[in-house]
Amino acid sequence: MAVDLGALDGDALDELMGKVVTDLGAIALAPLLSIGERLGLFRALADGEAVTPAELGERTATVERNVREWLAAMAASGYVTYVGEGRYRLSPEQVAVFTDEDSPVFVLGGFQAFAAAARPETRDRLERAFLDGHGVAWHEHHRDLFAGTARFFRPGYALHLVAEWLPALDGVVDRLRVGANVADVGCGLGHSTLLMAKAFPGSRFSGFDYHAPSIDAARELAAESGAGESGAGESGAGESGEGARVTFEVAGGKDFGGGPYDLVAYFDCLHDMGDPVGVLAHTREQLAPDGTVMLVEPFSHDDVSQNLNPLGRAFYSASSLICVPASQSQEVGRALGAQAGEQRIHEVATEAGFGRFRRAAETPFNIIYEVGNRAG
Ligand SMILES: C[S@@+](CC[C@H](N)C(=O)[O-])C[C@H]1O[C@@H](n2cnc3c(N)ncnc32)[C@H](O)[C@@H]1O
Repeated sequence: MAVDLGALDGDALDELMGKVVTDLGAIALAPLLSIGERLGLFRALADGEAVTPAELGERTATVERNVREWLAAMAASGYVTYVGEGRYRLSPEQVAVFTDEDSPVFVLGGFQAFAAAARPETRDRLERAFLDGHGVAWHEHHRDLFAGTARFFRPGYALHLVAEWLPALDGVVDRLRVGANVADVGCGLGHSTLLMAKAFPGSRFSGFDYHAPSIDAARELAAESGAGESGAGESGAGESGEGARVTFEVAGGKDFGGGPYDLVAYFDCLHDMGDPVGVLAHTREQLAPDGTVMLVEPFSHDDVSQNLNPLGRAFYSASSLICVPASQSQEVGRALGAQAGEQRIHEVATEAGFGRFRRAAETPFNIIYEVGNRAG
């Protein structure tokens, strides 16, 4: 049937087509961001100096013609600033967002992770998962997802975890100062574990994840960081011996050991697990009677209509590609999704037998829940 354009609302159509053009550009831009990072194009602009494509090409041993097109694509996106007369520079904000791995607003890890999940071979698997409901496991993704996710989340953890999230939990910082036993479950590459270990040298930290390559990487990062070395008389990070203060072990959420724990933390991962109720029920068995569970989850409202905004779009899209299929691939397949919201997370904690639940802190990107046994 031929579409009668005259019968359509012209303004609504223009608005929709504007979004489509923006998104077409975004899809083409994603690999260019990765190329820009890998070839050092962003880094070479970090001094904020205005350069020509030829000068940037010289700085990075790349071809001027390709760099010229890349710079124009970035400038049209607002990711690089065109200053006229063929020169481009990064503003201080663009430097913080695109060049500084330690900046709280560094984003290139996010592009690395999303691009990994969008790879054609993964898309084909996901397409099958939409038909058979068996999901796609976390470990079936390209390795860029593991590194990219860790790089994407680390700046937020570095900014908030020790300064705000742990202090928002009742009595937890006092225990960490004295000497607590802590588990970080679904720890991935272990940045959260290492940040806590560095801040509280008198406590012991165990990172667990079912994905062996992530645990191998966590051990390497721990050894490089020396995070465990300040524990009084104890051996270093990444070791798995009796005395090690920071250890990383391959274990799933329903079979990690080492309790009783004063604190068990889940960073952006409970919703990825197939059986979050089973995982939290197991956590109860590993928790000291007065211990605390910290659930860090992506920010979300309970009702879908309240999440229909740019952040919700990024989270629902990642959830469709990564989180829901990951959970579906595991036992039970509860598939909470990255936008589960407080009510559903509370339900899961209650089903697991916990009587204490509250929202302890939040940022624009995360909600931090405190969970425990009923006092008394
Ligand atoms: C989105 S990543 C978050 C990783 C890390 N916590 C962070 O914040 O960077 C989800 C993690 O959950 C882990 N995971 C998924 N299902 C699991 C399970 N059943 N038991 C343990 N880990 C699991 C994955 O291997 C992955 O490392």
